[in-house]
Amino acid sequence: MTDTSKQDRVVIFDTTLRDGEQSPGATMTHVEKLEIASMLDEMGVDIIEAGFPIASEGDFAAVSEIAKNSVNSVICGLARAQFGDIDRCWEAVKHANRPRIHTFIGTSPLHRAIPNLTMDEMADRIHETVSHARNLCDNVQWSPMDATRTEHDYLCRTVEIAIKAGATTINIPDTVGYTAPRESADLIRMLLERVPGADNVIFATHCHNDLGMATANSLAAVEAGARQIECTINGLGERAGNTALEEVVMALKVRNDIMPFQTGIDSTKLINISRRVAAVSGFEVQFNKAIVGKNAFAHESGIHQDGMLKNAETFEIMRPEDIGLKETNLVMGKHSGRAALRSKLADLGFELADNQLKDVFVRFKALADRKKEIYDDDLVALMRDTTSEEADERIKVKFLRVICGTEAPQSADLTLTIDGVDHQITATGDGPVDASFNAIKALFEHSARLQLYQVSAVTEGTDAQATVSVRMEEDGRIVTGQSADTDTVVASAKAYVHALNRLIVRREKTGKDAKEINYKDAAI
Ligand code: KIV
Ligand code: ZN
Repeated sequence: MTDTSKQDRVVIFDTTLRDGEQSPGATMTHVEKLEIASMLDEMGVDIIEAGFPIASEGDFAAVSEIAKNSVNSVICGLARAQFGDIDRCWEAVKHANRPRIHTFIGTSPLHRAIPNLTMDEMADRIHETVSHARNLCDNVQWSPMDATRTEHDYLCRTVEIAIKAGATTINIPDTVGYTAPRESADLIRMLLERVPGADNVIFATHCHNDLGMATANSLAAVEAGARQIECTINGLGERAGNTALEEVVMALKVRNDIMPFQTGIDSTKLINISRRVAAVSGFEVQFNKAIVGKNAFAHESGIHQDGMLKNAETFEIMRPEDIGLKETNLVMGKHSGRAALRSKLADLGFELADNQLKDVFVRFKALADRKKEIYDDDLVALMRDTTSEEADERIKVKFLRVICGTEAPQSADLTLTIDGVDHQITATGDGPVDASFNAIKALFEHSARLQLYQVSAVTEGTDAQATVSVRMEEDGRIVTGQSADTDTVVASAKAYVHALNRLIVRREKTGKDAKEINYKDAAI
């Protein structure tokens, strides 16, 4: 048997709450961010990049509170190469047991052109800002953004400056997902060989998935000497996303024979955190997504099923329980009691206080009245729906009845409670969903544009619950809402209203015309 205690440790740096959350539409609320951070900490994530404190008051507050609540994980904040950013970042992360400042600047020719700095001026800026960060905090990470498209000589020069100025981790971002595995490895090897002082720091790999190679590129970098992988849950992130945490963790575990590295992650917590991130970000996990997709452990074809029954290893390289999956089974019905519900929800990763359980139980009973068989996935959808209804929501769907069928126009009779007062209207539209959305727009006027409307069935059967995701945009602010119900039109209306509630919060947070800073608005 392999003695894994002697294997090199690969540090897992999760940036779901920063790089993941900054992807349009994935905005999470303050409470959701705290919850995800605590799940990451419990799962054994070494470093949590909790946000970009200068970006907005909301980001600052979230990073500070995550830092205060942190237990084992290092809490990191992002800062551009500006003293003001770095000071603000330190103000937020300093509350953590183990704080880190992560500062970056774009070093490739395209990125250098944005602040219009010469190579020498940028080199000076790197020295000044990393030194400044290091004077505040012992743990400093520096990133040359777009490293994979930076000239090698200049990359070596800037990395050397950052190390001399006190950076303890050097992160090499493949910002636009351009590199390929061999090149990713060669780049790390080149830096380790050429840069004086490289032995004294940890090299990190930060890959984006534009060409579908983020996981492969990250693992190749590790084989070449990187010892920190930057990643997100479900590969959440702008465009095609970041390296998926669950993929690198399970690849290192399952293929430890050829990649002998250890992480500190408790892999049995992967499925629950994946579900939770999907719920709060509104980014559904695709069915065939590696590790956490709904079909990742499903064996449909007869030949596979036969093999599985004889010996699970025939077609399975890892066990469902390794990622915390318990077999989906028929769980409950309308005669199930509160204790059974509590225990089932705990299995699914939802620990409820008594008052929360009371509310969920009422919803569970209502669902059981409409749906005879309630599966694990139904309960997950029910919980997503429950937790997506924030207590301070200003708009609520009180009543909805639609008339639909072959004869147009379809119509919706809707009552919304807005700030505690009921408002009623009947509207028509092209189908029941359109009619319901028109009714909502008439009762709560807004200029947000619908960007995405997506429906999926939670389980099989005509009584299955539908989960609906709605993404909307208003003045550059993008929000996502979701809901689940056995009635698709009701789920749609609730998802729309959920998105509107989030939009109201975003408006209040950023002011009418203000927008939050994105790290890509690198006005350095
Ligand atoms: O992709 C990227 O370059 C980044 C940096 C800020 C590290 O996210
Ligand atoms: Zn990134």
